[in-house]
Amino acid sequence: MPVMTEIFDFDQIVDRSNSDSAKWERYQGRDILPMWVADSDFAVAPHIQQALRDRVEHPVYGYTQVSARLPELIAERMRRLYQWEVDPRWVVMLPGVIGAFYLACRATSEPGDLIYVPEVVYPPFLTGPGHYSMENQKIPMSIRDQRMIIDMDWLEQQPPRPGRLLMFCNPQNPGGAMYRKDELTRLARIVEQQQLTLVSDEIHCDLVLDRDRRHIPIASLNPQIEQRSITLMAPSKTFNLAGLGCAFAIIANDRLRRSMTVNPYIVPHVNLLGLAAAEAAYEFGDEWNRQQCEYLAANRDYLIDAINRIPGLRLAPIESTYLAWIDVSALGLENPSRFFENAGVGMSPGRDFGDSNYMRLNFGCPRSRVEDAVERIRKAVEGIS
Ligand SMILES: Cc1ncc(COP(=O)(O)O)c(C=O)c1O
Repeated sequence: MPVMTEIFDFDQIVDRSNSDSAKWERYQGRDILPMWVADSDFAVAPHIQQALRDRVEHPVYGYTQVSARLPELIAERMRRLYQWEVDPRWVVMLPGVIGAFYLACRATSEPGDLIYVPEVVYPPFLTGPGHYSMENQKIPMSIRDQRMIIDMDWLEQQPPRPGRLLMFCNPQNPGGAMYRKDELTRLARIVEQQQLTLVSDEIHCDLVLDRDRRHIPIASLNPQIEQRSITLMAPSKTFNLAGLGCAFAIIANDRLRRSMTVNPYIVPHVNLLGLAAAEAAYEFGDEWNRQQCEYLAANRDYLIDAINRIPGLRLAPIESTYLAWIDVSALGLENPSRFFENAGVGMSPGRDFGDSNYMRLNFGCPRSRVEDAVERIRKAVEGIS
């Protein structure tokens, strides 16, 4: 168990080359900083590394099952962080959040059905329904206090679609907006009035960058929305464990939960290392994450200031996540991805998220790398005649 005052070093450069990292392999051998896919370059918390070593030391890696402790830890966490009373039996462990969207589409909808998805969002939201011959009904985005969120005026005017699915992302990726209580209360009311089922992807919920802010799981608001919600969370973004394939759904409604229960012949169980890491993360990870969020907040502050000094680029405030959503439209670039790769910075193209005016930059890395990226971007933009 870590000492509470231990200071963790997020400035440390971890060499991820030759570690089969998807993020780093893409640009292997080229002078391009990989700042695209959403994993961080921070070393995993020492106590999680130790838990994994301990498990690997046991020489048998046979079929495993979820310990009784892990759903209890998750329920305790919901109570402690969000005053949300979760029964540990509502927790369904899953090998990933993307797979959970797909399961939710199959569980709640039929081919031809419309599924609401935000117009600008993490790409698998946009592809999931189409995979099962369902149709995306895009919810337009609106800007409130420089925060990009779904347009609830528009949603409120839609005809009821009983039982149909609304896929929601809070904190919003991209953009990093954290939905406020009044916004969530309004959304919960619309979901209830229109008798929808809500998938709430809250995978970035622990990456809250300002101390005075608090994430609110929408299902925690009242028993009605709780009964209509599938809440998706994971230790993967917070604790940099994406390669271990461990996530979970919290589903209070018995019928919905049964429909989401994994068929092990289609969706594999979470593997034993993912479970061991999740348990260690939720048992002892709070202090590590507190320091991580502080570090990320400083990266964010630096980045917002530096990017907004570059003529033609604009970066709005970021409340959560380590993902900066940069408006590059004023540069008039034909192919923004290629332009920034040529500048030596590999970002995610906004096009994939639904808005080609933007590029998404991952600042979950040591500050020196963020500074290097800004410098490369600045020089390239200044070079446009
Ligand atoms: C909003 C969101 N949901 C889901 C995922 C992926 O989750 P998983 O790796 O558990 O499938 C990501 C990863 O970037 C994400 O940003």
